[in-house]
Amino acid sequence: MSHRKVTITAALPYANGPVHLGHLAGAYLPADFYVRYRRMLGDDVLFICGSDEHGVPITIGAKKEGISPQALVDRNHALIKKTFADFGISFDIYGRTSDPIHHETSQEMFRDLLEKGAFDVEETQQFYDEAAGQFLADRYISGTCPKCGNPNAYGDQCEQCGSTLSPQELQNPRSTLSGNPPVLRPTTNWYLPLDKLQHSFLNQYINSREDWKSNVLGQCKSWLNEGLKPRAMTRDLDWGVQVPVAGADGKVLYVWFEAPIGYISNTRKLRPDDWQQYWTGDAELIHFIGKDNIVFHCIIFPAMLHLYGHGFVLPKQVPANEFLNLEGAKISTSRNWAVWVHEYMHDLPGREDELRYVLGSIMPETKDSEFTWKDWQTRINSELVGIFGNFVNRAMVLCGKFHEGKVPGAVPIQEVPAAVREAWDLCAVELQSSLDAMRDSLKHFRFRDALAEMMNMARAGNKFLAVTEPWKLKDDYRTRAFILNRALHIAANLMLASEVFLPRTAENLTSQLAFSPDTALRLRFWKGELQTELLSEHHSLGTPALLFRQVEDAVVEEQIQKLKNMNKESAADASPEGQFVMQPLKDTIQYDDFAKMDIRVARVLEAERIPKADKLLKLTLDTGLDTRTVLSGIAEHFSPEEVKGRSVLLLANLAPRNMRGIDSEGMILMAEGADGKLYFVQPDGPVDAGSNVS
Ligand code: 2FM
Ligand code: ZN
Repeated sequence: MSHRKVTITAALPYANGPVHLGHLAGAYLPADFYVRYRRMLGDDVLFICGSDEHGVPITIGAKKEGISPQALVDRNHALIKKTFADFGISFDIYGRTSDPIHHETSQEMFRDLLEKGAFDVEETQQFYDEAAGQFLADRYISGTCPKCGNPNAYGDQCEQCGSTLSPQELQNPRSTLSGNPPVLRPTTNWYLPLDKLQHSFLNQYINSREDWKSNVLGQCKSWLNEGLKPRAMTRDLDWGVQVPVAGADGKVLYVWFEAPIGYISNTRKLRPDDWQQYWTGDAELIHFIGKDNIVFHCIIFPAMLHLYGHGFVLPKQVPANEFLNLEGAKISTSRNWAVWVHEYMHDLPGREDELRYVLGSIMPETKDSEFTWKDWQTRINSELVGIFGNFVNRAMVLCGKFHEGKVPGAVPIQEVPAAVREAWDLCAVELQSSLDAMRDSLKHFRFRDALAEMMNMARAGNKFLAVTEPWKLKDDYRTRAFILNRALHIAANLMLASEVFLPRTAENLTSQLAFSPDTALRLRFWKGELQTELLSEHHSLGTPALLFRQVEDAVVEEQIQKLKNMNKESAADASPEGQFVMQPLKDTIQYDDFAKMDIRVARVLEAERIPKADKLLKLTLDTGLDTRTVLSGIAEHFSPEEVKGRSVLLLANLAPRNMRGIDSEGMILMAEGADGKLYFVQPDGPVDAGSNVS
């Protein structure tokens, strides 16, 4: 048996709030499936995670609540840790980056890199708040967006038009701490020269990773094509890991420098004596993350490990997922458009495996995907209840009814009628092919497919019962015994498969079958051996119990309502950057001002996404006068397919603006609903493209 050391990490979640369904589907659930699968194969796996407790969002969150950052992370860390445990994410350790062992580990690595001359020291001008007496992180500066005029853009990004900004670009910048305009002051920081590392190491490293998922490789290559730039690895902040250099008071390590080191410090904490074995030699290192973390895990962290040396291995795989949307909109914690995992478990106790199944089935593996409560209900009712649960229950109940709750004898297959023989032969082929496909999918991080194959095994079982109809065989004891013996074995194979995906269901099946698998059996199954001779004759079964419960419509409606209410509440107390504050009436204008606007009906000929601009769609419009390109910030609300062919209202004489290197000639008029969704404004009847709106 192989005892390969495998370190599997899931992104350390920021301890600035609880975890939601997007987190689960993005990183924690795929990681948990994969870890359970590798453990079944006998690999020596450590599943590492913990809270990421530094970074500016945490200091901002603490300030808003009027508590210390430490108090904020203490509270959230406890909640997140419990949520994962209750949900069955099987971490070997869930630690935290405020732990002294993490501070030491990060400082040691920084010092080592410093001694190796890995950093460039640069003096730059940074914004400083004189009243607050501190340098300002980008998020602590707001001002007017130079691109779209939004008065509440942040120093790193404008949430209205999606532009990435630097604080110096903002017009009328002000500090969010004191409200005063900040001043520029010189400061020294340590930079990782990623531009040089690109040529000495990263190009070759990424090019050697041919087996990475295409969404991950695509992002890496686009970063490399654009050309990497040096990035500061220290910040002027007071919350974080102190820079271990004399005279560097008031400076901390950049959170994205130390957070991935958290994987190392958590391994140290878990295995103080032999942790190195999991990071060096032929250890395998695999990081599960969401797509917003790709650059840090595929570029910056490997560069750090490469410079550090000491025999450390580099990430072998980074199976990042895309994003999960929720009920037609992007998940947003600030707008409270999210399903919080701890609330799900509170509202829907005992439905953890149902959620694991649904999220596993819709995982955003290659592109963004969407969770809706209705779809959750359909998958539970028609698949888990209707197929999986139904099959197991029929097999159990029939054994109770006809065989006193015992495993019926394994009648030799030659002794049953040809039709039953053929049905079993076909079923066995289907089961084997599903098992093979499931293993192959898991190996290649295709969890949706793997889960679908598990369900196909239950489907094959149902078909077998439907064709052989054992309930009709009142007097043919032996044929019925054969069929039900086979059915129980299918249930046993489902139990083995469930151990990877649905741990509570596996336990439930274990007690119904009154049979616990051991390591050797699990290994045989996961090496591809279908188990058809497990349960001995007359072995007493446990009590039949439903594996899954039907979801009523009222439950779905309640959850949808809850989501909308939470979203409205957050709108009501939204901060200035909140999106749902009713805008006051603008100043009066004259008719002439209005008449200057050329608003027309236009038709969308083409719509496409723009790489790296999550909010923008590029539209090609027929305006009646011409065909032109308009960028519209609606990508979070509509897919290109939903937009194509629509009639829209276009402000056609707006001065062209260049965004993301593309000239946008005009603006589409949209209305915003109370739910934060954007809606098209369009003519009520068949109006041709080019018609004026007045
Ligand atoms: O995106 C996030 O939630 C980060 N806290 C992930 C950090 S992953 C790692 F580097 F620790
Ligand atoms: Zn803007």
